[in-house]
Amino acid sequence: MILMNKPTVVTCGLPYTNGLCHLGHLRTYIPGDFYVRYLRRLGEDIVFICGSDNHGTPIVVSAEAEGVSPRTISERYHKHFDEIFKATGVRFDRFGMTDDPANHARTTQILKALIEKGYVYEKVIQQSYCPKCGRFLPDRYVEGTCPYCGKHARGDECDQGCGRHLEPGEILDPVCATCGTKAELREQKHYYFKLSAFRDYLLEYLPTLKGTVNARNYAIGWVENELMDWCITRMLDWGVAFPAEGADGLVCYVWVDAPIGYMSFTEEWAAANNADWKKYWMEGDRVHFIGSDIIYHHCVFWPAMLHGAGYEPPSAVVASGMVTIDGEKFSKSRGNVVWTKEDYLDKGLPADYLRYYLLDYTSHTRELDFSWKEFQARINNELVNTFGNFANRTLNLIKNKLGHIPECAVEAPVFEEISKSLAAIEEAVRAFEFKAAVDNILLLASYGNSYISNEAPWKLLKTDVPRAEQVLRNCLQIVKACALVMQPAMPDFAQKLWEMLGYQDTVEAHPVSDAMVPFENTVLGDVKPLFARIEDAQREELEAVLAKRAKEAKEASAKSEGKSEGKKDEKKNSGEKPMTEEEFEPISTDIVTIDDVAKFDLRVGEVVKCEKVEKADRLLRLQVDIGCEVRQIVSSIAKEYTPEEMVGKKIIVIVNLKPAKFRGEESNGMLFAAGESASLLIPLRDVPNGTKVH
Ligand code: MSP
Ligand code: ZN
Repeated sequence: MILMNKPTVVTCGLPYTNGLCHLGHLRTYIPGDFYVRYLRRLGEDIVFICGSDNHGTPIVVSAEAEGVSPRTISERYHKHFDEIFKATGVRFDRFGMTDDPANHARTTQILKALIEKGYVYEKVIQQSYCPKCGRFLPDRYVEGTCPYCGKHARGDECDQGCGRHLEPGEILDPVCATCGTKAELREQKHYYFKLSAFRDYLLEYLPTLKGTVNARNYAIGWVENELMDWCITRMLDWGVAFPAEGADGLVCYVWVDAPIGYMSFTEEWAAANNADWKKYWMEGDRVHFIGSDIIYHHCVFWPAMLHGAGYEPPSAVVASGMVTIDGEKFSKSRGNVVWTKEDYLDKGLPADYLRYYLLDYTSHTRELDFSWKEFQARINNELVNTFGNFANRTLNLIKNKLGHIPECAVEAPVFEEISKSLAAIEEAVRAFEFKAAVDNILLLASYGNSYISNEAPWKLLKTDVPRAEQVLRNCLQIVKACALVMQPAMPDFAQKLWEMLGYQDTVEAHPVSDAMVPFENTVLGDVKPLFARIEDAQREELEAVLAKRAKEAKEASAKSEGKSEGKKDEKKNSGEKPMTEEEFEPISTDIVTIDDVAKFDLRVGEVVKCEKVEKADRLLRLQVDIGCEVRQIVSSIAKEYTPEEMVGKKIIVIVNLKPAKFRGEESNGMLFAAGESASLLIPLRDVPNGTKVH
């Protein structure tokens, strides 16, 4: 196949080598891997790069605590992440280390270029110093109060409060993190990067940056507000030596050499594979997958540094919302964490379930609040009941009832459906809308499921064998298409399904467009249930691990602080049955302002027409009169409402939502409904269509 598209390098945020992999990390890696796999199966030239982030004070602090070298600790966690990636199907072409020679060399080259071009200057600053330990206290060595929000903060980041990056010397009431002594301020010479000189450049560049809107918009906001120069050196003996005359003892700040790793790891990959790394970095596209906690570094600091040193800036930054538990940040000390190995893989749970859950639970830029209950519900309802049910019904009927593969041709409407799905999935993947992509994969299975239920080939086998054969032939084609399109999301299950279909090769070797090639096998493989349910007992076990860890952490902290925490406020709900604590979705900690709310244009609309979407058992297509026009909205409430019930209802609709497609049907807005039963939000008093909701 001729590759028509630009060579692309896709990277994922580099994990620090001072802790184990938790589920939060995977929200960077799994969507990155899905994106790469899907585009490759469309024939694109992509190199997928990551590595571990070895420098910085937290790693030195951890190493000191263990009495080993930072390199030793880095190698240990590097190996851990590498193993996790292999076990979860995240397949980097190169997983390097920022402490390796290639990265020291590229970082030195870039810093020298910045120095030469006049973007670096010296400055003597007041730096925290511990008189007891007898040393300067960079970053994590110092704790104190955030000057912006007043929360307890660490030296370089307000990680429990406003999330700001803090410059050396900025933190208030500094104390030594190692011994607790009040820090003194002493003069020290450092080097600064003239970030402020890049304001105009960034304001011109950022609107062209592709990826998710959160990354672009946050960055534009920051650049418009303030752009402080960055102190890019630290007094440490772990890191890349700062290459300026007279900078003895200084290494560069970890956030300088970490993103440069993306480049140096591409060089390492190219050297081992006889390829040209510059083709990717200078001519092609660079796409960075990260979590929203590090948008500033990737959208402000990194493009300025690249531009200053004469390289091309990122083409796209794809920033996920953070993964939380009970609405709270992951925290090892609070026991609020799900470890990928110990709590998930070692329990025998399939990696593909996690891949599916992280991709499909909510849209990529939103916060994802993890719970085992939701996890179980998603797997059982969507994968087992819809996807698996359809595939297994089809294959079992052919294998055990019909006894041979029907030879008739697949009917045209089936190919039309598949073709529509392929287009919708591709569009969503290219727009970095991974939930929409996976929803559309599931919708294809759901179409198959409705089709087989409606046609009931098991009955036809008794009354009209040729028709039964035709239906099953159509179903087989849909199963084949499902296996092909699900592979980037769930590679292991896709391969299993592929083998059940009687193929001897790998599904990955086929482009997704093979979904339109008629099913060609004459015998099926062994047919077994594709997905296994997650039983309540297992879910309870998983929940108990989390609860126990949180309890132990609470006790430990109560002991150390000599006090216990107060009880949560009691919650009250009206409604049929009060909610249990478990059912109550935690209040989001993602605070919005009045201005954010004002962005939602909400109107009262009247449903003037409503129909089921053919072959999609959850979807209704509504025509909603919003005063100035009649809008089409597709909503997944078909299980809760009949079309007749909907007509004449006045509902609340968001009318400035980006249009989306579901099973090829355009949806131009969204309605609001509460809870499992999808209880519709309706205006209490009659108001004209189009009335604005304040
Ligand atoms: N080392 C830096 C990244 C340097 S990139 C040049 C870092 N490391 S990390 O180990 O903290 O995180 C690695 C990746 O996981 C980052 O993309 C980060 O955004 C992501 N996540 C870590 N915890 C996360 C959540 N709880 N939720 C979502 N993503 C998070 O940051
Ligand atoms: Zn703060």
